[in-house]
Amino acid sequence: MKKKIVVLAGDGIGPEISASALKVMEAALGQAAKDFEWTNYAFGGAGIDEKGAPLPEETLTACHQADAILLGAIGGPKWEKAEQTPEMGLLALRKALNLFANIRPIQVPEVLLPLSPVKETIVRGTDFIIVRELTSGIYFGEPRHLGEKEAYDTNRYHVDEIKRIVRQAFKIAQTRKKKVLSVDKANVLATSKLWRQVAEEVALEFPDCTLAHQYVDSAAMKIIQNPTDFDVIVTENLFGDILSDEASVLPGTLGVLPSASYGVSGVALYEPIHGSAPDIAGKNIANPVSMILSVAMMLRESFEQIEIAAAIETACFKVMEAGVLTTDLGGQATTTEFTDKVIDYLKKGEGTNE
Ligand code: NAD
Ligand code: IPM
Ligand code: MN
Repeated sequence: MKKKIVVLAGDGIGPEISASALKVMEAALGQAAKDFEWTNYAFGGAGIDEKGAPLPEETLTACHQADAILLGAIGGPKWEKAEQTPEMGLLALRKALNLFANIRPIQVPEVLLPLSPVKETIVRGTDFIIVRELTSGIYFGEPRHLGEKEAYDTNRYHVDEIKRIVRQAFKIAQTRKKKVLSVDKANVLATSKLWRQVAEEVALEFPDCTLAHQYVDSAAMKIIQNPTDFDVIVTENLFGDILSDEASVLPGTLGVLPSASYGVSGVALYEPIHGSAPDIAGKNIANPVSMILSVAMMLRESFEQIEIAAAIETACFKVMEAGVLTTDLGGQATTTEFTDKVIDYLKKGEGTNE
């Protein structure tokens, strides 16, 4: 039986970077491509336009039956005022699949060191993982209300939701430098006080690792000031969202950061951490690296194609090293030019000497 990949290309640059990443995947898999099938389903704004809903029923069914899901990006000004927004579809999908653990690796490869807006001496060696809780917190808490004179949201965490995400962070730390940093706002928020206490309890299960705590405001500063200090950061939904976009300043662009989202069991979802970039959509200038690296994560984590995943990552970095850069990194390569160079490299280890 072929492995089924559901592709949710979505909106804005989503379709452009998805097409790029799938071409790279096919080239990298070579003969093994016959063991996989990938099918696009309407999702986000495209779901609204094509099927009247951001998460159409047949899309959700396909996701439930998939071996892995690849998501481009969703959203855009066209649907901002819609009754059902693309973002609601994304949250509904994460919830429906119980994808509570969003893994966002932050690395600055050698080639990007001189391109980072932060000094090379500071960013060199940056390699940490943000473990973001993805199915609870203020994104999902009830009640919520938007009135004319008043609006509110509810930040709510159950002890079991904190336990499972903190455990996930420790398990990842065990494969790395064994340092977990739990980021919260325990000087103010009740949810954070509970979070901190639960993190302490979970830490007892992992005596080989260390646990430290930091307030989110100071963590936001330290991520830029001293990024090599971090190993695994675990934090709630909203803080993880904000800190990971902030961390993209280290490699110099959101366009190179992939992510993976896991549930208790079952299907995993892979997507760039960035959005649909409406400002550059349709121009063939988006950086497809975030999406290509998301494919590499999928091949490694969901399909155990470890060598092929590594080959894809190497190809991306080699092509960048050869000076083929998209505009977000100060280059002039288009999305398709960059993609073609990656494929050339994969096929022949060539095509990068410009
Ligand atoms: P964004 O991440 O789409 O863009 C922020 C900036 O980064 C823009 O200047 C954009 O051009 C640039 N950028 C992002 N990805 C890039 C890439 N691959 N190559 C080059 N440049 C890139 O954030 P935004 O503009 O705040 O949001 C736009 C839409 O995307 C909104 O509707 C938002 O809700 C949605 N969004 C979706 C997701 C998702 O699908 N997971 C994530 C974040 C935002
Ligand atoms: C992300 C995005 C989403 C989030 C939005 C589009 C709902 O910013 O995937 O990081 O906040 O989770
Ligand atoms: Mn985000």
